[in-house]
Amino acid sequence: MQFTIAIDGPAAAGKGTISRAVAQDLGVAHLDTGLLYRAVGMKGGDPVAAARNLAPQDLEREDLRGLQAAEAASRVAVNPEVRAALVEFQRDFARRAGGAVLDGRDIGTVICPKAEVKLFVTASAETRAMRRWKETGEGSYDAVLEQVRIRDARDMGRADAPLRPADDAVVLDTTELSIEDAVAQARAVIQARLGR
Ligand code: CDP
Ligand code: CDP
Repeated sequence: MQFTIAIDGPAAAGKGTISRAVAQDLGVAHLDTGLLYRAVGMKGGDPVAAARNLAPQDLEREDLRGLQAAEAASRVAVNPEVRAALVEFQRDFARRAGGAVLDGRDIGTVICPKAEVKLFVTASAETRAMRRWKETGEGSYDAVLEQVRIRDARDMGRADAPLRPADDAVVLDTTELSIEDAVAQARAVIQARLGR
Protein backbone atom coordinates (compact mmCIF):
# COMPACT_ATOMS: atom_id res chain seq x y z
CA MET A 1 0.00 0.00 0.00
CA GLN A 2 1.32 3.43 -0.94
CA PHE A 3 0.67 6.32 1.48
CA THR A 4 2.44 9.42 2.77
CA ILE A 5 2.52 10.70 6.34
CA ALA A 6 3.51 14.39 6.48
CA ILE A 7 4.84 15.70 9.80
CA ASP A 8 5.56 19.43 9.97
CA GLY A 9 6.25 21.95 12.71
CA PRO A 10 8.80 24.30 14.25
CA ALA A 11 12.26 23.48 15.62
CA ALA A 12 12.49 20.80 18.33
CA ALA A 13 8.73 20.23 18.50
CA GLY A 14 9.29 16.47 18.37
CA LYS A 15 8.78 15.86 14.63
CA GLY A 16 11.80 13.60 14.24
CA THR A 17 11.08 11.58 17.38
CA ILE A 18 7.47 10.97 16.30
CA SER A 19 8.45 10.29 12.67
CA ARG A 20 11.03 7.67 13.58
CA ALA A 21 8.63 5.90 15.95
CA VAL A 22 5.70 5.73 13.53
CA ALA A 23 7.92 4.78 10.57
CA GLN A 24 9.22 1.88 12.63
CA ASP A 25 5.68 0.85 13.68
CA LEU A 26 4.54 0.73 10.08
CA GLY A 27 7.79 -0.64 8.68
CA VAL A 28 8.17 2.25 6.22
CA ALA A 29 10.98 4.62 5.28
CA HIS A 30 11.46 8.04 6.93
CA LEU A 31 13.03 11.17 5.43
CA ASP A 32 14.15 14.03 7.69
CA THR A 33 13.90 16.81 5.08
CA GLY A 34 15.61 19.32 7.40
CA LEU A 35 18.80 17.38 6.78
CA LEU A 36 18.71 18.40 3.11
CA TYR A 37 18.59 22.10 4.02
CA ARG A 38 21.23 21.63 6.71
CA ALA A 39 23.56 19.96 4.18
CA VAL A 40 23.03 22.76 1.64
CA GLY A 41 23.63 25.40 4.32
CA MET A 42 26.86 23.79 5.49
CA LYS A 43 28.27 23.18 2.01
CA GLY A 44 29.13 26.84 1.58
CA GLY A 45 29.46 28.63 -1.76
CA ASP A 46 26.43 29.12 -3.97
CA PRO A 47 23.47 27.46 -2.18
CA VAL A 48 21.52 26.94 -5.41
CA ALA A 49 24.42 24.99 -6.94
CA ALA A 50 24.81 23.10 -3.63
CA ALA A 51 21.12 22.12 -3.67
CA ARG A 52 21.21 21.05 -7.33
CA ASN A 53 24.33 18.93 -6.77
CA LEU A 54 23.49 17.50 -3.35
CA ALA A 55 25.07 14.04 -3.01
CA PRO A 56 24.42 11.23 -0.48
CA GLN A 57 27.76 11.86 1.26
CA ASP A 58 26.73 15.50 1.90
CA LEU A 59 24.04 14.13 4.22
CA GLU A 60 26.55 12.13 6.25
CA ARG A 61 28.57 15.04 7.64
CA GLU A 62 29.05 14.86 11.41
CA ASP A 63 28.23 18.54 11.94
CA LEU A 64 24.67 18.60 10.55
CA ARG A 65 22.90 18.15 13.90
CA GLY A 66 24.24 21.26 15.63
CA LEU A 67 22.96 24.80 16.03
CA GLN A 68 25.26 26.22 13.36
CA ALA A 69 23.78 23.89 10.75
CA ALA A 70 20.23 24.74 11.88
CA GLU A 71 20.92 28.45 11.43
CA ALA A 72 22.63 27.92 8.05
CA ALA A 73 19.70 25.76 6.90
CA SER A 74 17.07 28.35 7.71
CA ARG A 75 19.03 31.03 5.82
CA VAL A 76 19.29 29.03 2.59
CA ALA A 77 15.69 27.77 2.98
CA VAL A 78 14.24 31.20 2.15
CA ASN A 79 15.67 30.91 -1.41
CA PRO A 80 12.97 29.65 -3.83
CA GLU A 81 15.61 28.19 -6.20
CA VAL A 82 17.13 26.17 -3.37
CA ARG A 83 13.67 24.86 -2.43
CA ALA A 84 12.81 24.04 -6.06
CA ALA A 85 16.01 22.03 -6.46
CA LEU A 86 15.01 19.78 -3.54
CA VAL A 87 11.36 19.14 -4.47
CA GLU A 88 11.79 16.19 -6.83
CA PHE A 89 13.94 14.16 -4.43
CA GLN A 90 11.37 14.62 -1.64
CA ARG A 91 8.37 13.75 -3.87
CA ASP A 92 10.12 10.65 -5.21
CA PHE A 93 10.78 9.56 -1.65
CA ALA A 94 7.15 10.22 -0.66
CA ARG A 95 5.86 8.06 -3.53
CA ARG A 96 7.87 4.98 -2.69
CA ALA A 97 5.97 1.70 -2.65
CA GLY A 98 4.97 0.61 0.84
CA GLY A 99 4.56 4.13 2.20
CA ALA A 100 6.75 6.87 3.62
CA VAL A 101 7.01 9.34 6.49
CA LEU A 102 8.51 12.78 5.77
CA ASP A 103 9.10 15.50 8.35
CA GLY A 104 9.92 19.16 7.78
CA ARG A 105 8.17 22.49 7.39
CA ASP A 106 6.23 22.31 4.11
CA ILE A 107 5.51 18.62 3.58
CA GLY A 108 1.74 18.85 4.07
CA THR A 109 1.40 22.23 2.35
CA VAL A 110 3.79 22.08 -0.64
CA ILE A 111 5.69 18.80 -1.07
CA CYS A 112 2.79 16.37 -0.49
CA PRO A 113 -0.47 18.33 -0.39
CA LYS A 114 -2.38 15.07 -0.90
CA ALA A 115 -0.68 13.17 1.93
CA GLU A 116 -3.02 10.65 3.57
CA VAL A 117 -2.05 11.86 7.06
CA LYS A 118 -0.86 15.36 8.06
CA LEU A 119 0.35 16.20 11.53
CA PHE A 120 1.49 19.64 12.68
CA VAL A 121 3.60 19.11 15.78
CA THR A 122 4.27 22.14 17.94
CA ALA A 123 5.18 23.24 21.50
CA SER A 124 5.97 26.50 23.29
CA ALA A 125 9.24 28.17 22.23
CA GLU A 126 10.58 27.85 25.80
CA THR A 127 9.91 24.10 25.92
CA ARG A 128 11.43 23.57 22.49
CA ALA A 129 14.52 25.62 23.36
CA MET A 130 15.00 23.64 26.59
CA ARG A 131 14.78 20.36 24.68
CA ARG A 132 17.23 21.50 22.02
CA TRP A 133 19.64 22.95 24.58
CA LYS A 134 19.73 19.67 26.52
CA GLU A 135 20.04 17.65 23.32
CA THR A 136 22.93 19.59 21.77
CA GLY A 137 24.73 20.69 24.93
CA GLU A 138 25.66 23.83 22.99
CA GLY A 139 25.70 27.43 24.27
CA SER A 140 23.30 28.73 26.93
CA TYR A 141 19.55 28.15 27.23
CA ASP A 142 18.95 31.85 26.51
CA ALA A 143 21.05 31.73 23.34
CA VAL A 144 19.21 28.62 22.12
CA LEU A 145 15.83 30.25 22.86
CA GLU A 146 16.88 33.33 20.91
CA GLN A 147 17.94 31.19 17.95
CA VAL A 148 14.71 29.18 18.04
CA ARG A 149 12.66 32.41 17.98
CA ILE A 150 14.68 33.89 15.09
CA ARG A 151 14.42 30.66 13.11
CA ASP A 152 10.66 30.34 13.76
CA ALA A 153 10.12 33.91 12.54
CA ARG A 154 12.24 33.34 9.43
CA ASP A 155 10.49 30.03 8.64
CA MET A 156 6.99 31.47 9.16
CA GLY A 157 7.71 34.79 7.48
CA ARG A 158 9.26 33.68 4.19
CA ALA A 159 7.25 34.12 0.99
CA ASP A 160 7.95 30.66 -0.46
CA ALA A 161 6.60 27.65 1.47
CA PRO A 162 6.26 29.36 4.86
CA LEU A 163 5.86 27.21 7.97
CA ARG A 164 2.14 26.84 8.69
CA PRO A 165 -0.27 23.98 9.35
CA ALA A 166 -2.03 22.65 6.24
CA ASP A 167 -5.79 23.25 6.39
CA ASP A 168 -6.35 19.52 6.86
CA ALA A 169 -3.52 18.91 9.36
CA VAL A 170 -4.14 17.64 12.87
CA VAL A 171 -2.30 19.91 15.33
CA LEU A 172 -0.45 18.14 18.15
CA ASP A 173 0.87 20.41 20.92
CA THR A 174 3.57 18.48 22.79
CA THR A 175 4.42 21.20 25.37
CA GLU A 176 3.03 19.16 28.26
CA LEU A 177 3.55 15.71 26.73
CA SER A 178 6.21 13.11 27.41
CA ILE A 179 7.80 11.51 24.35
CA GLU A 180 5.69 8.39 24.97
CA ASP A 181 2.42 10.36 25.14
CA ALA A 182 3.30 12.45 22.06
CA VAL A 183 4.04 9.29 20.07
CA ALA A 184 0.83 7.64 21.36
CA GLN A 185 -1.28 10.61 20.21
CA ALA A 186 0.38 10.61 16.79
CA ARG A 187 -0.28 6.87 16.48
CA ALA A 188 -3.96 7.43 17.30
CA VAL A 189 -4.28 10.04 14.52
CA ILE A 190 -2.56 7.73 12.02
CA GLN A 191 -4.70 4.77 13.07
CA ALA A 192 -7.86 6.85 12.58
CA ARG A 193 -6.78 8.06 9.13
CA LEU A 194 -5.08 4.96 7.73
CA GLY A 195 -6.86 2.21 9.61
CA ARG A 196 -3.53 0.85 10.80
O1 CDP B 1 12.52 16.92 14.88
P1 CDP B 1 12.30 18.07 15.83
O2 CDP B 1 13.34 19.13 15.70
O3 CDP B 1 10.91 18.63 15.76
O4 CDP B 1 12.41 17.50 17.32
P2 CDP B 1 13.10 16.16 17.88
O5 CDP B 1 14.48 16.07 17.36
O6 CDP B 1 12.18 15.01 17.66
O7 CDP B 1 13.07 16.46 19.44
C1 CDP B 1 13.94 17.43 20.01
C2 CDP B 1 14.33 16.98 21.40
O8 CDP B 1 13.18 17.03 22.26
C3 CDP B 1 14.85 15.54 21.47
O9 CDP B 1 15.93 15.50 22.37
C4 CDP B 1 13.66 14.77 22.01
O10 CDP B 1 14.05 13.65 22.76
C5 CDP B 1 12.99 15.80 22.90
N1 CDP B 1 11.52 15.62 23.05
C6 CDP B 1 10.94 15.71 24.29
O11 CDP B 1 11.66 15.93 25.27
N2 CDP B 1 9.58 15.57 24.47
C7 CDP B 1 8.78 15.35 23.42
N3 CDP B 1 7.45 15.21 23.61
C8 CDP B 1 9.35 15.27 22.13
C9 CDP B 1 10.73 15.41 21.98
O1 CDP C 1 15.30 19.83 13.81
P1 CDP C 1 14.78 21.23 13.57
O2 CDP C 1 13.29 21.25 13.50
O3 CDP C 1 15.37 22.22 14.49
O4 CDP C 1 15.33 21.68 12.15
P2 CDP C 1 15.27 20.95 10.74
O5 CDP C 1 13.98 20.23 10.57
O6 CDP C 1 16.51 20.17 10.55
O7 CDP C 1 15.26 22.19 9.74
C1 CDP C 1 16.30 23.15 9.73
C2 CDP C 1 15.80 24.34 8.90
O8 CDP C 1 15.64 23.90 7.54
C3 CDP C 1 14.46 24.90 9.30
O9 CDP C 1 14.54 25.92 10.30
C4 CDP C 1 13.92 25.45 7.98
O10 CDP C 1 14.40 26.75 7.73
C5 CDP C 1 14.52 24.52 6.94
N1 CDP C 1 13.57 23.53 6.44
C6 CDP C 1 12.64 23.94 5.48
O11 CDP C 1 12.61 25.11 5.13
N2 CDP C 1 11.78 23.05 4.93
C7 CDP C 1 11.80 21.75 5.31
N3 CDP C 1 10.94 20.90 4.74
C8 CDP C 1 12.70 21.33 6.31
C9 CDP C 1 13.58 22.25 6.86
